[in-house]
Amino acid sequence: MQFINPVETLIRERKSKRTYAKKELSNELIDKIQQLLLDHNTGPFGNQVKFSLIKKDFANENQKVKIGTYGFISGALYFIAGEVKNKPYCFEDFGFLLEKIILHLTELNLGTCWLGGTFSRSIISDILDSDLDTLIPAITPVGYIANSKTIRENIIRWAAKSDNRLEWNKLFFKDNFLNPITKEELPDYEIPLEMLRLAPSASNKQPWRILWMKDDFHFYLKRNPGYGMYGAVDLQRIDMGIAMSHFDLSCKELGLNGKWEVCKPEIDHAVEIEYIASWRIL
Ligand SMILES: Cc1cc2nc3c(=O)[nH]c(=O)nc-3n(C[C@H](O)[C@H](O)[C@H](O)COP(=O)(O)O)c2cc1C
Repeated sequence: MQFINPVETLIRERKSKRTYAKKELSNELIDKIQQLLLDHNTGPFGNQVKFSLIKKDFANENQKVKIGTYGFISGALYFIAGEVKNKPYCFEDFGFLLEKIILHLTELNLGTCWLGGTFSRSIISDILDSDLDTLIPAITPVGYIANSKTIRENIIRWAAKSDNRLEWNKLFFKDNFLNPITKEELPDYEIPLEMLRLAPSASNKQPWRILWMKDDFHFYLKRNPGYGMYGAVDLQRIDMGIAMSHFDLSCKELGLNGKWEVCKPEIDHAVEIEYIASWRIL
């Protein structure tokens, strides 16, 4: 499915929504969503992700459909969950794909909210009857957005400082991490980098750091120590995949060709910064 609106518009429009209208989705929308889930099954690093649409089953109140999100998400009748095998780059691929799906859902005027911490993986895994070696890195509610936000939602947004993003000089560098780049130095890539900067991340920690060297944008993860691990699931590597998807989609929209590759540059950097992958300009 192609985007109809500019990706830039959708990225700017998307915000986490935690309050939903208790209204069933039309069959037409459900069909569109199912098609989106089928279309987004393989990430740039080749991992397969199986996405499913789950409908909350009111007929069975005991159903483990509490999904664990009460208290954080209100009114949502549907969730999207994805299953992936624990292989190298599975979290980046997962983040990359689900964020693209989320931008398509934004275009359909539906609300979403990445949930990596506040849901029960075992409950979703039971509902989906997942294999034991399958991970469910994150889920999102999907549905019509309620007209007003709950106080709790406002508190969550305030606590996570959700409306703030780090400035360019904290995120984007040239040749080494002591040398921030300015927008003027890279006019062609100003929009893709700005779109990356607007990406959602777990607790809005924005752990992405980008190093521009000649024809490559090297993507690094600056971890928040002790944060974001749920068993084998690594939320900050999902964040990397989300940032990569914003950058990739924006470059493609602007006709800036490139491809993802793992080609770590030989440079010195602080130990807490981890190399992930590179966008090579073609
Ligand atoms: C991987 C990931 C996991 C997240 N997990 C949760 C969560 O468990 N609960 C929650 O309320 N929000 C969660 N969020 C949403 C972030 O708090 C939110 O994206 C961030 O504060 C920025 O706000 P925005 O999405 O409105 O731009 C998560 C986001 C990401 C990317």
